[in-house]
Amino acid sequence: MRRKIIAGNWKMNKLRSEAVELVKGLIPLVADVRDVDIVVCPVYVSLSTVYDLIKDTNIALGAQDCFWEEKGAYTGEVSAPMLKDVGASYVVIGHSERRQYFGETDEWVNKKTRAALKAGLTPIVCVGERLEEREVGRTIDVISRQLEGGFAGFDKGQIGGCVIAYEPVWAIGTGKTATPEQAQEVHSFIRGWLKDNYGEEVADKVRIQYGGSVKPANARSLLTQPDIDGALVGGASLKAEDFAEIVKAAIV
Ligand code: 13P
Repeated sequence: MRRKIIAGNWKMNKLRSEAVELVKGLIPLVADVRDVDIVVCPVYVSLSTVYDLIKDTNIALGAQDCFWEEKGAYTGEVSAPMLKDVGASYVVIGHSERRQYFGETDEWVNKKTRAALKAGLTPIVCVGERLEEREVGRTIDVISRQLEGGFAGFDKGQIGGCVIAYEPVWAIGTGKTATPEQAQEVHSFIRGWLKDNYGEEVADKVRIQYGGSVKPANARSLLTQPDIDGALVGGASLKAEDFAEIVKAAIV
């Protein structure tokens, strides 16, 4: 049985004082939850502050990206060891917004994921098709390409250390959630891909989150699908009550 993982991707939201308020609100609401992994991913500049508040709680810290080099002349970038150093245990990699606005490629995702694993972080590697790709029946082609490029050359140990997030781009921030059946279909394809490439044990172990307009009202129907092992939540993670309800919907 895979342990469910609910992560809040705050994206570029919340000043430091607002981040403090959000996390202080969240801590008591989820304090009793034992069998779900809970992660919050604030902006870089609030990581340390949030970590100080959650370090003795059941909430873990994640970042939203990292660079693949450990240090050097890469102005504006932050490396995986630096994230680890401020208390992060997870890092989101290859989010569709990074692919869309910052030109991230599968090759970059591959390098960043390797760097995250090397630093002892758990990468949350995002894949997902755009609306026009779904409409012409290319969803599975796109997901396969992203998996093959993103994890090219990975061994069982490396892929076993990752979380995968399926986020259909057309469902992000649009209020248009994939139906549980649409999501399950792609999750089941990803599970099959893991099995074909890395064997049953790895396929059974790797957690696959769904992301895209997850809300308290639809969380349970998604999280009860056989291959949906958690959620990567954007908008609804910005409200402590909503995020806590989604966490609770993951309790089996
Ligand atoms: P929304 O939950 O706002 O649709 O965002 C999903 C997402 O992109 C999480 O990474």
